[in-house]
Amino acid sequence: MPQAPSPATLAAEARTAFDQSLRLIHDHPEQHGLIHAAVHRWYALFHQATGVDAFDYNGSPDIALPSGLALGASAAAFCLLEGQRTAVFLRGIEHAIRDLQQQFPGERIRILYAGCGPYASLLTPLIVRFSAQEVGWHLLDVNPHSLQSVQRLYRALDLEPWLLASQLADAATFVMPTAEPFHLVLSETMQRALQNETQLAIMLNLLPQLQPRALFLPQSISIQGAVQRWQPYSTEVVPSPTFQTFGTVYEIGQHSMQPPQETHLTVPTLSTPGGLSLTTTVTVYKNEALSGNDTSITLPKDLHQQLRGNEQLLFRYQWEPHPGFVCEVAETSRILSSSQTD
Ligand SMILES: C[S@@+](CC[C@H](N)C(=O)[O-])C[C@H]1O[C@@H](n2cnc3c(N)ncnc32)[C@H](O)[C@@H]1O
Repeated sequence: MPQAPSPATLAAEARTAFDQSLRLIHDHPEQHGLIHAAVHRWYALFHQATGVDAFDYNGSPDIALPSGLALGASAAAFCLLEGQRTAVFLRGIEHAIRDLQQQFPGERIRILYAGCGPYASLLTPLIVRFSAQEVGWHLLDVNPHSLQSVQRLYRALDLEPWLLASQLADAATFVMPTAEPFHLVLSETMQRALQNETQLAIMLNLLPQLQPRALFLPQSISIQGAVQRWQPYSTEVVPSPTFQTFGTVYEIGQHSMQPPQETHLTVPTLSTPGGLSLTTTVTVYKNEALSGNDTSITLPKDLHQQLRGNEQLLFRYQWEPHPGFVCEVAETSRILSSSQTD
C-alpha cells in the first residue's frame, strides 16, 4: 500500500498545484478541459487532507434552515468540481482583492467567506497569489462537518496564517463585527434562479451591513423571464433550446438590495409559442460573469408553462416549503373580459 505523503509534502504539492492551475485559469480561460483537470487535482489534495468525499452522496445530509437548504459537506465539496464556476469566481475574487488593495493601501484585506464549505474552495488557492500579511479570511459555515473539514485542511496544508477565524454560524442572521470591518464579503450558496439554498437570505442580511467602499461578491444576480423554444428535430444536429428574454424578474446586488416584490411582466407577441423559463446571470466581479449552460447555478429553469404571447405574468418569491420564484399567468384577453362583466 502506498504511504501517505508527509504533511510537508502535501502542503508543498498543494502550493504547486494552486500556482500552476491559477496561471492556467488566468492565462487560458477558454481551456475548459484543462481547467476541469486542474480543479480535479485540487480536489484530490483536499480530499486527502480532509477525508471529505465529494462523491459520497449519502455521506452527509443537507441542513434545513428557515431561509433554505445548507448543503451537506459532500455536496458542498462537489461545487469545486464545476470548473467554469470555480475559475470565474477565482478570477473575479482576485481582481476584486487587487482593486481593494488600491482602495485601502497598506491595509490587510479582511474577507468574510459566508458558506465556505469543506474546502473554502473560492479562497484557499489564492494563498499563492497573496501573502498572509496582505489578506486574511474569516470562514463561516452553518454545517459543522464542513467547518471541521476546512479547519482540518488549513492545519494539514499549514494555511492557518491566512485565517482570521473559522466560525459555525448562520450567515442569514450573522451580525458582522464593526470593530474591524470586512473589506470583502463573499458567498456562493446558490442554485439556479435563487431556488432552494440560502443565497438570497444571506445577501439580504449581509449587504446592508457592508462598510462604505467594501465589496460583496457576486456583485449581482439577475433573474430574467424567458421564452424557451426548441429547434426543429434534425438528424444532423442535436436540438438545443434558445431563450428569448423579455424582462427582469428580480435582481440583487450591492446596488439593488431590496427583497423581492411581486413583479408583473407581459410576454411579448410571439411568432411561435414556447415554454416559460427563468434564466440566471451571476456577475461575480466586473466582466467575470456566469450564465446559461456555464454552470449548474445558472442553468435555465423550466417553469412548465406554455406561452402563446401577450400573457400577463405575476412572479413572487416564496420562502416555504422551498425558496424560489413562482409564477401566475393571466391572459390579457381573460383579464379584460372579466373586468368587462363587472
Ligand atoms: C453550495 S456550497 C458552496 C461551498 C463553497 N462556497 C464553494 O463555492 O465551493 C454552500 C456552502 O454554504 C453553506 N451554507 C449554506 N447556507 C448557509 C448559511 N445560511 N450560513 C452559513 N453557511 C451556509 C453550506 O453548508 C455549504 O457548505
